[in-house]
Amino acid sequence: MNAPALHGLTLQAPAYVKNARLIAWVGEMAALCKPASIHWCDGSQEEYDALCQKLVEAGTFKPLNPAKRPGSYLAWSDPSDVARVEDRTYICSEQKADAGATNNWMAPAEMRNTLQPLFDGCMAGRTMYVVPFSMGPLGSPIAHVGVELSDSAYVAVNMKIMTRMGKAVYDVIGADGDFVPCMHTVGAPLAAGEKDTTSWPCSKTKYIVHYPETREIWSYGSGYGGNALLGKKCFALRIASTMGRDQGWLAEHMLILGVAKPDGTKYHVAAAFPSACGKTNFSMLVPPPAFEGWKVTTIGDDIAWIKPQADGSLRAINPEAGYFGVAPGTNYHTNPNCMASLDKNVIFTNVALTDDGDVWWEGMEKDSGKLPDHLIDWQGKDWTPQIARETGAKAAHPNARFTVAATNNPALDPAWDDPAGVKIDAFMFGGRRSTTVPLVTEARNWTEGVYMAATMGSETTAAAFGAQGVVRRDPFAMLPFMGYNMSEYFQHWLNMGAKLQATGAQLPRLYTTNWFRKDAAGKFVWPGYGENMRVLKWMIDRIEGQAQGVDTLLGVAPNYAEINWQGLDFSADQFETVTSIDKAAWQAELQLHDALFTQLADKLPQELLATRAAIEKRLNG
Ligand code: OXD
Ligand code: MN
Repeated sequence: MNAPALHGLTLQAPAYVKNARLIAWVGEMAALCKPASIHWCDGSQEEYDALCQKLVEAGTFKPLNPAKRPGSYLAWSDPSDVARVEDRTYICSEQKADAGATNNWMAPAEMRNTLQPLFDGCMAGRTMYVVPFSMGPLGSPIAHVGVELSDSAYVAVNMKIMTRMGKAVYDVIGADGDFVPCMHTVGAPLAAGEKDTTSWPCSKTKYIVHYPETREIWSYGSGYGGNALLGKKCFALRIASTMGRDQGWLAEHMLILGVAKPDGTKYHVAAAFPSACGKTNFSMLVPPPAFEGWKVTTIGDDIAWIKPQADGSLRAINPEAGYFGVAPGTNYHTNPNCMASLDKNVIFTNVALTDDGDVWWEGMEKDSGKLPDHLIDWQGKDWTPQIARETGAKAAHPNARFTVAATNNPALDPAWDDPAGVKIDAFMFGGRRSTTVPLVTEARNWTEGVYMAATMGSETTAAAFGAQGVVRRDPFAMLPFMGYNMSEYFQHWLNMGAKLQATGAQLPRLYTTNWFRKDAAGKFVWPGYGENMRVLKWMIDRIEGQAQGVDTLLGVAPNYAEINWQGLDFSADQFETVTSIDKAAWQAELQLHDALFTQLADKLPQELLATRAAIEKRLNG
């Protein structure tokens, strides 16, 4: 099917593209954005290689030494374009109340008027890539399809790794199937004959916009990560959360892992942690030697789509196909499986370049025992240990990333691509708290677990959010990713529990965890990483009725004796330091919950206020 000529450009969809709405939309967007050409991505390896070569020629990609890092590239972004931009992210529902108190909001008509002149001609001189992608296994009843139009080849190749991208998606949507339209531009049009003067075109003006009612995404001005790879946070969380509310399922900022006991019994856990709390590490956990025969496998490291089944169970898929993880801090101690995943076919962004054409980031010195003598840092400048000492310069940007296919992960779960998903046995909610929140507690019931998840907080890290150590409430780790009113989302979780309960099925257990308690000297007490297996095992013991636990103010917690300490020197005193519940701290904590509830008062479920009252009563009792 051919559409009319557009400013001299002919919209020629390949014969295998049969979806009339898609072809019409691409035509409409081409007329608006005025690209020099249109490239319909087929998702093939040849296409990926050719686009990478184009990025090399543009100076965006540096090929890495094939002897050290085969098939891999390094990109350095513009220093003004290094992370998600929460203050430029909007939920444009018709009613402000539907976006809720935690989101930036603008009326859709006003936002469309704002974006129209920005998108008009925004792709001049560039290629518009048509990127069809499935979030989740192709054709899975839990999956959904999107099509991203982008003027960035960097986006197209990253989407190839991060999603099921290519020709087969056109078959899934057929002639009249549904897809989420995702518009993206770096916002740097080129005049006739003008060439890029930078290898990372972007704009100082940025808008990351979601229209939940019409299920559209419009992203302007950034080429980086979640701002530009629209399948991830924009679709799989913000838009999908509204789809989940309307259709009765859950789109969550959760990793999914499998944990198998030596006898082969297997459980699946979905875990929500705010950004920068080690989600990727936990999803690839290597059990310590004392746990011989235990196996942890990754289904997903960041996002879970979870649908209730007729039998009252919840089944989950990872909608993504790759990992877009933070490189700094990743090493063979913190995440050996991740390091092994990064040995080939990786796109690195904003890490440092070594003199032998490999990559480096802060944290790798723990593996090699020393700092490299010389690097080129993420801004293209010389870096030496002396320069770092004198100026504090980081070789890699703290939010430097790797993009890698899930299939590179040696701990990948065999069911990671199963269209039916995996059955969830437990949910975990964990923030970064140096005080107050104990190592692990199990909610006594669904509502108490929802309360704990709704009120979870995390200390901010300098890398992501400016001031360090301030507790930011991050309900369900969804604060930056909610597509609608947060209080309605709490209600959706409560409703989901009630619905599952009505089937008579065993509900998944809900756990709160905190790996980050510090002692009086300000040092982390819990060793974390692989040792988190000890907590995971206790949770499974609970599910199997093997651990009695103790009833505390906040739920059921482990006895010291219930944790397997084999191979770890961790005293009862240390255990007390990470599990104690300080009543004064909890009085203060409840005040902070009140502040959150005041902010979220509109539509806040009464059950949460009742749970808060019950905690206070226990606290005073
Ligand atoms: C991420 C995030 O990039 O949560 O996954 O910020
Ligand atoms: Mn995330």
